[in-house]
Amino acid sequence: MDTWDAITARRNVREFEDRAIPDEALDRILEAGRRAPSSRNGQPWDFVVVTDREQLGRLSKVWRSGAHVAGSAATVALILPPGAGSTAFFDLGHAAMAMMIAAADLGIGSGHSAVADQELAREVLGLPEDREAAYLIDFGYPADRPVKPLKRINRRPFEDVVHKGGW
Ligand SMILES: Cc1cc2nc3c(=O)[nH]c(=O)nc-3n(C[C@H](O)[C@H](O)[C@H](O)COP(=O)(O)O)c2cc1C
Repeated sequence: MDTWDAITARRNVREFEDRAIPDEALDRILEAGRRAPSSRNGQPWDFVVVTDREQLGRLSKVWRSGAHVAGSAATVALILPPGAGSTAFFDLGHAAMAMMIAAADLGIGSGHSAVADQELAREVLGLPEDREAAYLIDFGYPADRPVKPLKRINRRPFEDVVHKGGW
C-alpha cells in the first residue's frame, strides 16, 4: 500500500478476526512507534504488547468502552510516567499514529481505548510504580470493516477546518 492509501485506509476497527498477527508484522508496527519523533528526542514512552487471549480479556476491563481490546490479536499499551505533561502526550500521539499507519499498510486494523482503572492496568501489564498506562491501541485483521482507502468520511469540511493565510 502506498503512504496515502495507508493514511486514508486507517479507521477505527472494533471487530477483529480470530487470527494472529505474524511476529514480523507486529514488530514492524512497534518499530514504527519507536521511530516516532518526540520533543527533544525525549522518547518518554514504553510499549507493552499483549497477545495472550486471557490477558487481553482482563486488559479490556480497564475502560468501560474497551471491549474490542478483548477480541484483538494484539494490544499495545502506551506507557508514560505518572503526571506526564501535554508534550509527552503529544509525543505519544505521534507514536500511536505511526503504529496505526504502519498497521494499515499491512492490512491490519487498529482501535483506541482509554484507561480508567490504573490499578487493573498495572496488575495485568506488570507495570512498575513509576509508570502508568496512558492509552491502549488494539490491532488485528478487521472482521467488520476492510482496511482500504475511504472515499466518504465523517469529518468537518476541509474549508471549515483549514484557514489559509490566517484565520
Ligand atoms: C485520544 C483518543 C481516544 C479514543 N478513545 C476511544 C475509546 O476509548 N474507545 C473507542 O471505541 N474509541 C476511541 N477512540 C476512537 C475515536 O472515537 C475515533 O478515532 C473517531 O471516532 C474517528 O473515527 P475513525 O478512527 O474511524 O476515523 C479514541 C480516539 C482518540 C484519538
